Formats: sequence, C-alpha cells, structure tokens
Amino acid sequence: MSVLKITGGRSLEGSLRVQGAKNSALPLLAASVLTEGLSVFRNCPRLTDVAATVDILRHVGCRVYGEGDALYVDASGPISPEVPDELMGRMRSSVIFLGALLSRCGEVSLSLPGGCELGPRPVDLHLLALRALGAEVTEAGGRLCCRCARLRGGRIDLPSPSVGATENAMLAAVRARGNTVITGAAREPEIRDLQEYLRSCGALVTGAGSSVIRIRGVEKLGGGEKRIMPDRIAAATYLAACASAGGRVRLYDACPGDMVPVLQALRGMGCELRTGENLIMLERRGPLRSPGPVITRPHPGFPTDAQPPLMAAVLKAQGTTVMIETIFESRYRHVPALRSMGADIRTAGKTAVIRGVERLRGGEVHASDLRGGAALAVAALAAEGETVISGTEYMDRGYEDMAGALTALGAEACSE
Ligand code: EPZ
Repeated sequence: MSVLKITGGRSLEGSLRVQGAKNSALPLLAASVLTEGLSVFRNCPRLTDVAATVDILRHVGCRVYGEGDALYVDASGPISPEVPDELMGRMRSSVIFLGALLSRCGEVSLSLPGGCELGPRPVDLHLLALRALGAEVTEAGGRLCCRCARLRGGRIDLPSPSVGATENAMLAAVRARGNTVITGAAREPEIRDLQEYLRSCGALVTGAGSSVIRIRGVEKLGGGEKRIMPDRIAAATYLAACASAGGRVRLYDACPGDMVPVLQALRGMGCELRTGENLIMLERRGPLRSPGPVITRPHPGFPTDAQPPLMAAVLKAQGTTVMIETIFESRYRHVPALRSMGADIRTAGKTAVIRGVERLRGGEVHASDLRGGAALAVAALAAEGETVISGTEYMDRGYEDMAGALTALGAEACSE
C-alpha cells in the first residue's frame, strides 16, 4: 500500500499546470455512450476514477484508447445496458450512466453507486428526472431498473440543485422526443463543460451555468470533441497548500473565474493573489489570519470539495474560524487525523470551529476520503517533521500525482 511522505516547515516556491477536472471528465465520458461516433477528450486527467469510468465504457461496448493527454471513445458499435456491480461500486459518478444508457438503449439495469462516504447520498432526484421524461423506474434490492423505448421531453423541477441529477437529466433529454426544461438545475462550471461537449455532438441544449436548462431532443448524436476544463478543486487544494506553508506559487492553465469564493477566502486569510485569464499567483509571507465564517453552498457559493483543504490551511491562522458544511452530512471525517497533528477543532453537526494553534506536528495519519486526504497533505506542509499519509488510493481518485505536484511547488514530498 503506498504512502505519501511530506516533511513540513518549508515555504513553497514554484509553478504547476493545473490538471483537467475530474468532475468534468467523468460525466463527459459517461455522455459519450449517447453518441454513435468517435469522441475526443483533451486535457483528460490521469486518475483512478477516470480509469474506472473507462472500464465501464469498455464493458458496455465502447472502444477506448489514449494518445498523450487525449482520450478517444468510439461508441459507434452496439452498446449493452448493463454494468457489473463491482464497476458501479467503485465510485459515485457511475450513476451518470443511468441516463446515458437508458437514452441509448431504451433500458438499463444498475446497482446503486459507490464512492466516498460523505453521509447519505440518495439518488431520488436522478429518478425524479428520468420519471419526468417517461421512464418506468423500479428500485429493488439495491438495483435500479429503468425502461423506456424512447424518452419524451418534459418539465423537470429539481427541488435542490444536485450536480449529478442535473447531468443525468441532460443526458436523458438530449435524445428524447420533444422539448425539456430543467428548473432548479445545478450551476457548477462542469455542467457548462458538459453542455459544450453535447453541442459538439449535435445536441440542442442551452442554459448551462444558470438554474434553467432547455433541451430540444434530437434523434441521433454523432461523435464530438472537448478540451476538459481545469480542475478548480485541485487548484484550490494547491493554493491552500501555499497558504498553509507560506511562500509563493503560480498555477497556470487554471480557471480563476470559477473560483471566486475560494480566492476571496484566501485573500481574507492574508494571502496576496494575482490572477490572469488562466493564471493564479498566490504569495503568503506574513501571519495567517482567519478568513471569517466559511459556509459551503452550491455554485457559485463556496464549494464543499474545497472545505477540507481550506480547513487544513486555517489550522495555524490567528483567531477562530467557523465552517458550516451545508451540502453533505458527514464531511468532517478528516478532523480526527488533523487533531492528532495538534489541531484545535470542535465539530457539532454541520459546524466546525477551528481555533488557530502555534504549532502542528508530523506523524502517521490515514486519509478518510479524497478531499480529506488532501487536507492531511495541506496540514503536513505546515507541521514540524515528517508526516506519513496512508490511504493515498483515495487521493489518486482525484489528484494526478500529488507528490509530484507538491514537489513542483517546492515541497519536500514523495510517494512510496
Ligand atoms: C458532485 O457529486 C461531485 N462529484 C462532488 O465531488 C461534489 O461534492 C458534489 O457534486 C457537490 O458539489 C462529481 O461531480 C463526480 P450532488 P454529486 O448530487 O453529483 C443530495 C469530489 O470530492 N442529493 O450535487 O453526487 C446529496 O445527498 C466529489 O470531487 C439528494 O438528496 O452531488 C447531497 O447532500 C465528492 N438526492 C447533495 O444533494 C439526489 O438524488 C448534493 O449532491 C442527489 C443528491
């Protein structure tokens, strides 16, 4: 089992190209089964979640190959509507194949998805969307079975802006008969990326990025092309790393426009930030201070995925920081490990209260999930001595070569 070793107490100095976005790559790859042609995805990140998605694509009948940072998916052959439980269980976003395979095959049978344990993660809104387009949905024994010879356009009112349910609704609607309107849609930038790809395949979809998405169904989609957007959560993590350790870093191929609340929080902590179109430079020389209350919200609010890394960056900040996690019920599983490094954190339900401490100490800690693991790395950079992080298989799901990235930024880090 590999571990990530980080020796703290050294300020950062360096630059890093931001990887392609996991949370865009996964729905894009699932969407490719809708098309009867060859799709090309550039800037595709090398992650275990991407590899798991490719395994599903190959299992249902797609030809998939890579060249450089591009992934090619040929979905022109026959597609089977069945995915083994083992593949479904590897990650949450496998559920996006529900809408895509139902639309392509007229039926689909899947087990409930796996993924990071962040509290209950129901799929009721995904099923609400498919039923609104005429699908017959049965849920029994942990299996989801959906049937509909041809979905028909309709109105989907999402009571809360679920990212996954919005994506599933879009994938089910683009080949439905007639018009669909999705209200209460998620506004995350990754939804915009999905719209751009679907349009490159001939879909008629507008409104992504707003809470109302409109789709006119078409009979068929051809192959398409998409350069995957930069990963705003990976960027937030590496900026938090620099805030935590001190120093100066430059992130290029970034997307500052999609990270406004994260950059605001970092400025509030005393970091100097300069941005260009695809560039973010952060410098932290003086003492860290609390950014004030941080409340996670759907986009354009503060992203829940950046909560753990940012929490780790405020552990030594002057003052007290209150964090409120409104998206997931159990997203403080990284807290005990941070406490074992000397952090002062109290949690009660959705709220965490972090009192800044003078010192953190290295040690042996275990990652509890993807972003929780990133938080341990961020804290380790500000700790005295060496930290050995196990459970790195979680981080490999969403970060391309984290040890290499931290080393490029001037940290003393290696994976073994
Ligand atoms: C996406 O997950 C991301 N994953 C998550 O990132 C991210 O945390 C989340 O959106 C919120 O921004 C991918 O894009 C692959 P949701 P998703 O449906 O689609 C509840 C990471 O670290 N809900 O928007 O699963 C749900 O329980 C991951 O990269 C229902 O109640 O998130 C949660 O409390 C973790 N019923 C809230 O909505 C439903 O049918 C938001 O979930 C669906 C969701």
